[in-house]
Amino acid sequence: MASDEKTVDKGRRSFLGKMTLGLFTVGLFGQGWTYMRSLVPNVLYEPPQKFKIGLPEEMAEGVNFIESRRVFVIREGHQFTCISAKCTHLGCTVKYVPLAHQETIKSGGEEMTVSYEFQCPCHGSKFRQNGAAYSGPAPGALSWHKIEIAPEDGQLLVDVSSSVDNDFKLVV
Ligand code: FES
Repeated sequence: MASDEKTVDKGRRSFLGKMTLGLFTVGLFGQGWTYMRSLVPNVLYEPPQKFKIGLPEEMAEGVNFIESRRVFVIREGHQFTCISAKCTHLGCTVKYVPLAHQETIKSGGEEMTVSYEFQCPCHGSKFRQNGAAYSGPAPGALSWHKIEIAPEDGQLLVDVSSSVDNDFKLVV
């Protein structure tokens, strides 16, 4: 009888010993992993916020969609503007939609003649030619971005990291 108790006691101690060793090993691996992970920085790889899109004379007259950057670059003769294609509702890419006829509308208290607008395919928001939202759930206007000439090679340089007023124009 006493021999049975000793065997059970020995088995229990052995089990507890193995469990302690197991927990210790798991803890050690956890700490090691955390330490190794801390050596690798959390970097978010995003495309550059400033990018070149070619020479001004190569840009077609009218609305040019730069799909890879989700911006529209509009050329009117020697004037260039840049407007974001990112819908202000949930970020879908808006589409350029030419109007059947030129219209004169009032937007932001100003009268303007429009020949196109932007429409979002996701939830139906509509934006005027100047980016102002006028229909659908979009809470605000499409952003306008700075566009300038790169001094080193004369290419058009767009900066999507900042927004500019919707009367900003680059004249070349
Ligand atoms: S994402 Fe454009 S309307 Fe919802």
